[in-house]
Amino acid sequence: MNVQTAEPSVTEPLSQTEPVPASTASAPTHLRRLVLTGFMGAGKTTVGHILADRLGWDFLDLDAYIESRTGVAVPSIFAEHGERHFRKLESQALASALGMHNVVLALGGGTPEILTNRLLLEQTPATATIFLDAPFSVLFDRCVLQALNPGATGRPNLADPAAAETRFLARQPLYRRLAHHTIDTESLSTEQTVATLLARLNSGSPRGR
Ligand code: S3P
Repeated sequence: MNVQTAEPSVTEPLSQTEPVPASTASAPTHLRRLVLTGFMGAGKTTVGHILADRLGWDFLDLDAYIESRTGVAVPSIFAEHGERHFRKLESQALASALGMHNVVLALGGGTPEILTNRLLLEQTPATATIFLDAPFSVLFDRCVLQALNPGATGRPNLADPAAAETRFLARQPLYRRLAHHTIDTESLSTEQTVATLLARLNSGSPRGR
């Protein structure tokens, strides 16, 4: 979770070693939760971290939350109990996460597959959902690169590329319908995605549903 740093006093300039206040942006005042959705590799976690920092909000990654609630890594849940069980844990974690305030929540790529999850997201007040979109080939390449990082979490639903593309195509309409805003991230850096997202949120013109 992020810790919001206090505003510096004008009479006490920041030293080189003091943390710079992260909160430099704001969300519309009626919003308490920002939810990032999209396929694996969309940048939900990376963008979510930065966005939360900018807003001075907490950040919650749904997969990490499931892991902290169960004490088991997501790939192990898939391997030991199957996807159906994982989806049950995911729905429970989502319901709990949506009770939090001033939080940026990064969903798992498959969270919107489940109808009750979509209803929960649509019916939770003060919540805006943002779809980070990109073509499958771009997302797949990003995931391959991420998998090279030491400590990267495995993605069981990416093991078979053809099956992953079929899932991607089936999920696209769900992501779109759920989203108050859709951002095409194909040619955007993480920073540009965050800036676009903040501008879109504050423009007062939701698009994408
Ligand atoms: C999944 C996406 C993963 C994780 C799990 C299943 C999916 O999350 O929830 O491996 O079915 O798309 P990310 O989208 O954060 O990789």
